[in-house]
Amino acid sequence: MAALFANSLALQPSANETGLSSSLFLYQPAMYALSSLLLVGACAVQAVLGRHDAVRARREAEIVKRSVDSFIQTETPIAWNALLCNIGTSGCAASGAASGAVVASPSKSNPDYWFTWSRDSALVFRGIVDAFTESYDPKLQTQIQNYIASQAKLQGVSNPSGSFSNGAGLGEPKFNVDLTQFTGAWGRPQRDGPPLRAIALIGYARWLINNGYSSTASSVVWPVIKNDLAYTAQYWNQTGFDLWEEVQGSSFFTIASSHRALVEGAALASQLGTTCAACTTVAPQVLCFLQRFWSSSGYVVSNINGGGGRSGKDVNSIITSIHNFDTTVGCDVNTFQPCSDKALANHKAVTDSFRSVYGVNSGLAQGVAVAVGRYSEDVYYNGNPWYLATLAAAEQLYDALIVWKQQGSVTITSTSLAFFKDLVPSAAVGTYSSTTSTYTSVINAVQTYADGYMNVVANRAQSNGSMAEQFDRSNGQPVSARDLTWSYSAFLTAAARRAGVVPPSWSASSGNTVPGSCSGLSVAGSYTSATLTSFPASQTPISGTPTQTGTTPTPTVCASEVIVTFNELATTTWGQNIKLVGNIAALGNWNTASAIELSASGYTSSNPLWTASVVLPAGQTIQYKFIKVQPDGSVVWESDPNRSYTVPSNCQTTASTSSSWK
Ligand SMILES: *[C@@H]1O[C@H](CO)[C@@H](O)[C@H](O)[C@H]1NC(C)=O
Ligand SMILES: *[C@@H]1O[C@H](CO)[C@@H](O)[C@H](O)[C@H]1NC(C)=O
Ligand SMILES: *[C@@H]1O[C@H](CO)[C@@H](O)[C@H](O)[C@H]1NC(C)=O
Repeated sequence: MAALFANSLALQPSANETGLSSSLFLYQPAMYALSSLLLVGACAVQAVLGRHDAVRARREAEIVKRSVDSFIQTETPIAWNALLCNIGTSGCAASGAASGAVVASPSKSNPDYWFTWSRDSALVFRGIVDAFTESYDPKLQTQIQNYIASQAKLQGVSNPSGSFSNGAGLGEPKFNVDLTQFTGAWGRPQRDGPPLRAIALIGYARWLINNGYSSTASSVVWPVIKNDLAYTAQYWNQTGFDLWEEVQGSSFFTIASSHRALVEGAALASQLGTTCAACTTVAPQVLCFLQRFWSSSGYVVSNINGGGGRSGKDVNSIITSIHNFDTTVGCDVNTFQPCSDKALANHKAVTDSFRSVYGVNSGLAQGVAVAVGRYSEDVYYNGNPWYLATLAAAEQLYDALIVWKQQGSVTITSTSLAFFKDLVPSAAVGTYSSTTSTYTSVINAVQTYADGYMNVVANRAQSNGSMAEQFDRSNGQPVSARDLTWSYSAFLTAAARRAGVVPPSWSASSGNTVPGSCSGLSVAGSYTSATLTSFPASQTPISGTPTQTGTTPTPTVCASEVIVTFNELATTTWGQNIKLVGNIAALGNWNTASAIELSASGYTSSNPLWTASVVLPAGQTIQYKFIKVQPDGSVVWESDPNRSYTVPSNCQTTASTSSSWK
């Protein structure tokens, strides 16, 4: 979300700008919720307290539970309404926005969030698609269809990040609400937009398949997804700006989102009878790189390859965990599942980092929920807690509870021990089945702890249920953009997990094995406009076994595309680059400005190797040449004749060809 990366300091509003009545909390008894919060963590210290204290702790936990129950009941319809208000064209606060465009906030000044961000929109629509999958609603279906049509259009809009032809333009973070390009200075590109959009669309494609509408998934939705997957496989290993739009480097959230999209994309492709060779090949390398963010100090460093000057403790990592939740892989650590030991240790490290920096958290004991911001060094609007960050801290714990209850046990490792000891001081390393008292203590304590985060939000929401972007670090009053779409979405997903609603699996079990060694393998893709953007009418849910409508895709026996790796030996001097250009769109149609860059990561003086991998159609014969691009941009061509290569059509999914500069 929308922190201005460069001029964030210039944008601080005066304290009263939000114009809020200060201490009216509609839903719950704020007076005692706040003071009792000091004591709720008390169940944590039962072991050393007397009976009366234990009884009091249980009573306090019950008070918070009831407060949160009532908040959720009141806030849920308000949040749905406010969220849909921010989506064009019909949204009550989105007048002037294009159909399907999610406006970040109706706020048009201080700060101006009257734009549509690819990331925010995709996260909001993933939440909508999950809710729709859980319970059919024709109004939501229309919204989803409008969103998909809007994104098909947006993919083709050239912008300061680049154009569509080589995919670069898909990395543009935000657009005007009428879907025209935004040309102002910004932190670009941001590489999480395409994978997040793919994930949201894949969710709807799977609903279509499960209800017998595979041909709609193939003809309308897949062409949009395919471009975003191609972008992800091509650009994941290049730096970009993080989700807070401030740090250029590699962001944990972006990498995890890229991994999920590729795994889920490969699974969807096979359901649709097609393939995504690049997804299958690249995904393990993305997962390999994801492991690199873990610090031996016991938490995730959210930004690497850049982003110095911060501890790296950032709610980025908690948001990552909740958005990659998949109960079919239990507490898998490689995909950073919410109940994995690393994710729990990280939850403690990140939330603890806010304990001493915010006035609103002062006096709250270890193991008691606190207000959570983005990262403790934040200065945007003076650096405050955010609703969506505090909600993410709650959601991770609700996710963990779902899995523990499902598997009937809780495992405590040396990595996660400190997290558990904050809540149950007698906790020790081990696996505790649901028949043990340790299991019961842990489940109850984590439930209360999670509700504590929800209660912080309950206490800081506006009296009519509105949630802005932030609330003041000292006085708790709403700050920055009002009615932030993402705040409502974050509330709704956290509330769904608290109610035990499990999101659809993203096939994590088919993609959670980390390769023995990591490489930066990227595959250049081809990009084709998705032109079919109208959905057939009456695609309502079917009950029973889906019958296919329209043409049933024939399962592909052979891959229709092959990843071809070009190895070229070419001695270069500093600043020169080798590129590949040829007679098809994927190779730039002989236009040197659209040529494919080769990587020199394997280059040595004795073996001056340049390589690139490109997805090409099986069986196609191509003409191409390598070019040497000088530091000043001028181009030296290889000598004639043109090179020729025929992509194999014998079902192999990868191939390579080697040559030397001529
Ligand atoms: C690319 O991947 C390699 C291998 O995991 C890693 O060492 C490198 O830091 C990555 N770079 C970026 C910018 O993602
Ligand atoms: C709450 O009131 C504010 C004005 O103070 C308004 O901008 C906002 O839209 C209202 N929210 C809801 C959910 O009605
Ligand atoms: C190489 O291909 C280009 C584009 O089709 C063509 O103009 C050129 O004549 C070819 N070169 C040779 C030597 O055939």
